[in-house]
Amino acid sequence: MKVNRRTFVASTAAGVVGTTSALSARESRLVQGANDRIRLGFIGVGGMGRGHLNNFMQISEAEVVVVCDVWDFARNRARKMTEPQPRGPAETESDFRRILDRKDIDAVVVATPDHWHALPTIMACEAGKDVYVEKPISHNIVEGRQMVDAARTHKRIVQVGTQQRSGLHFQEAVDMVREGKIGKVTRARTWNYGNASPRGIGSPPDGAPPAGLDWDFWLGPAPQVAFNPNRFIGSFRWFWDYAGGMMTDWGVHLLDIVQWAMNVDAPSAITAAGGKFVLEDNRETPDTLEVLFEYPEFVATYSNRFTNGYTPDGHGYGIVFYGTDGTLFVDRQGYDLYPELGETTEDPEPAYVRLQETGQPSWSSSRTVDVGRSPRMSAPGSDQNEPHIESFLECMRTRKLPISDIEIGHRSTSTCLLGNIAYRTGHKIAWDAKSEQISDDPEASKLLSRENRSRWTQDV
Ligand SMILES: NC(=O)c1ccc[n+]([C@@H]2O[C@H](COP(=O)([O-])OP(=O)(O)OC[C@H]3O[C@@H](n4cnc5c(N)ncnc54)[C@H](O)[C@@H]3O)[C@@H](O)[C@H]2O)c1
Repeated sequence: MKVNRRTFVASTAAGVVGTTSALSARESRLVQGANDRIRLGFIGVGGMGRGHLNNFMQISEAEVVVVCDVWDFARNRARKMTEPQPRGPAETESDFRRILDRKDIDAVVVATPDHWHALPTIMACEAGKDVYVEKPISHNIVEGRQMVDAARTHKRIVQVGTQQRSGLHFQEAVDMVREGKIGKVTRARTWNYGNASPRGIGSPPDGAPPAGLDWDFWLGPAPQVAFNPNRFIGSFRWFWDYAGGMMTDWGVHLLDIVQWAMNVDAPSAITAAGGKFVLEDNRETPDTLEVLFEYPEFVATYSNRFTNGYTPDGHGYGIVFYGTDGTLFVDRQGYDLYPELGETTEDPEPAYVRLQETGQPSWSSSRTVDVGRSPRMSAPGSDQNEPHIESFLECMRTRKLPISDIEIGHRSTSTCLLGNIAYRTGHKIAWDAKSEQISDDPEASKLLSRENRSRWTQDV
């Protein structure tokens, strides 16, 4: 099979990715221009992949030509979903490389587990396809940069699934922060809280993979291990070989908005603490985590616990910006703007003088900054996915950079991956965002990349 000759090169710190005999960008555009349809291949059709199938099929010019999964149950179920398409159901495929070899596919939607985002995205770019790839964009920072490079080298549109950017109320919230509506922001807070104690996802024994699953292909570039049900559908998120726990799974959505609103693309230092203190399951990622991100003029935190669901403000997750003139909370359902009432400012007269004059020390006086307490701005929680997809298709036509361009997705992902590096090493990480290097810390620097499993580093 021709696909067997495709070259995979290790995701090493040297940052080399192999090239293939790619369909040129121009050829690909000609295929797309041949008719008004945009012909799509789906790679990974589990939870999110099927969500995307539903959304893309709502768009008349989008045609799902082929659905690919390494588990036959998933691909057959996805194929069934495509039966109502005017041109009939999609074909099924078990090896995404065969999709990339097809000249009649304009773009691929990559919704595999995180460790399987980089290779299909890079290879799709090399093959002249545009890509919609899920967040977090990569398993590690080096392969994320390789994805950006591939998109730029091959002039591909690569949109990342950080769909909150396409939510109108998120855009309004970001504008308010950027325009100074809440004054100078010195602090941003993000969190996910819940309680899964004590069992969590349980601790099932290793065993045989389900029939029809190519477990070796599912593992792909990750180390070879026996099948364990928790490493598979959905809960792969809690294993370092494939993902980064809640820090990268949800943290990337939240910190993406923080970095956007604050007009920055990376922290300069990161510290973290936490542990797996309660959950009795076989996950590897922490059940309690606090990460502090230092930026030049503000600090941000990400907090996660799976051990207690109390939410003082009634929100299990969210983003808050604290400014000198107000506070802004935003989540997928809307935003709340709180004026800075009763803010304390220093009394111009020293406290001892006031004490002598009045017998009362006065530490402060207060002022009111009325940024206009908003009635809650509400948004349907799902209003971000469809416009995000539409904007991807629009960018395929215009060749303009998408709102969640791969460089942006890479920066938001990197921030979260650095949070995990700080947690896993226990070190304070000094990050040089320009060179994408950790200063003076060989142990932490090792976690910037990993050697892919040999099957995915050479001709197979
Ligand atoms: N943007 C969002 O809001 C959002 C929401 C949920 C999930 N996600 C992201 O989507 C991705 C998938 O998450 P999920 O919950 O759907 O996972 P999932 O386990 O439900 O589905 C992943 C599917 O990919 C398949 N797969 C694995 N390797 C493959 C390969 N090499 N080729 C083809 N198929 C392969 C699996 O068999 C599985 O069916 C994750 O990166 C996750 O972070 C994003």
